[in-house]
Amino acid sequence: MSNTIFTDTLKGIKRERPPVWFMRQAGRVLPSYLKLREQYSFRELMLNPELTAEVTLLPVNDLGVDAAILFSDILVIPEALGMDLKFTEKGPIFDSPLQDAVNQYSSLQPDVTKLEHIYKALDVIRERKPADVGLIGFCGAPFTTFCYMVEGNSANHTFSKAIKLFYNNPDISAKILEIITDLSIHYAVEQTKHGIDVFQLFETHAGLIPSDLYMERIMPHVSRITNAVRANNVPVIFFPKGLGLGLAQVNFDVADFVGIDWQYSLPEARAIVDKKVGVQGNLDPRILSIDDRTMLKKELAKFKAFGKDNYNWIFNTGHGFSPDNKVDNVKFVIDWVKSTDWGR
Ligand code: CP3
Repeated sequence: MSNTIFTDTLKGIKRERPPVWFMRQAGRVLPSYLKLREQYSFRELMLNPELTAEVTLLPVNDLGVDAAILFSDILVIPEALGMDLKFTEKGPIFDSPLQDAVNQYSSLQPDVTKLEHIYKALDVIRERKPADVGLIGFCGAPFTTFCYMVEGNSANHTFSKAIKLFYNNPDISAKILEIITDLSIHYAVEQTKHGIDVFQLFETHAGLIPSDLYMERIMPHVSRITNAVRANNVPVIFFPKGLGLGLAQVNFDVADFVGIDWQYSLPEARAIVDKKVGVQGNLDPRILSIDDRTMLKKELAKFKAFGKDNYNWIFNTGHGFSPDNKVDNVKFVIDWVKSTDWGR
């Protein structure tokens, strides 16, 4: 591990300010990314380790964030299980989603060679990144991955077909979740062997089911992944978006840090999350779309109050950037985090 504000904070070491990075910091708002996309498809950027490294490091060069997140997608796991994935203007689409899961699930066969280009990309990123910048690996958490595999696309925000299967057929759902988890463990552990400083597990759709059911039927799978990563001495950030009061049950057995969405203020979240677990978040990314910064400045003042005494905190948004976020507002926030006297 390199000695940085980012990695020190992950270890619980008090630093003069919180580290800052953003979910979806590469592939959304950056003019340099949008320019590359005129030349290459998303798929081409993901498959070519040189280009992947270049895109991963764009926000480091253009924005000055403290960490780079691997440029890839959570849906590489279903793809490596043999599912046919397309990235379209309307988002990701699977040609044959698992809607007849009882008959289809046994066709899911892992092919780990499909993930190898990602490890090569991590090697290139590590060679090129400044020593004081952290490197974040990631994958989708099992429930979110399950939702996409069964639903087949992201057009229906309720993921009703996936949820129906989850309730109708717990046994088949558990089998699919296990297949996802087994390959995710392999993938995550390989990432730890290629020099990531931290691993983030994205459970974007945790909020689609009641939190007690999440704990009962999903958390055991999550723990298997996070424990495998931590056994390789890499800390884990778990981001269960929409888990709500279920955050009270995310303890240090599960993760080192937990990502907080924008539903709760950080003091509210901090009050219920295990004291040993650090927090990450949680500026509402939609505030970054505004023209007038009055509201943004008001929100930032709340973060300043929180950051004075909370050292195990990573500044981030409460979810990924949206396409209408303004890069100037993003830069403003990063400069604010770096130039503020946090009174520590
Ligand atoms: O900075 C980065 O962009 C980091 C890399 C990254 C991507 N996807 C690239 C991407 C990460 C960390 C993800 C995670 C991801 N992918 C999640 C979890 C986090 C979240 O935002 O909720 C989910 C649910 C997905 C699935 C996915 N991939 C969707 C729903 C979409 C389409 C809509 C969208 O967000 O753009 C994608 C496509 C995708 N993944 C793009 C990028 C840059 C857009 C591709 C393009 O340039 O057209």
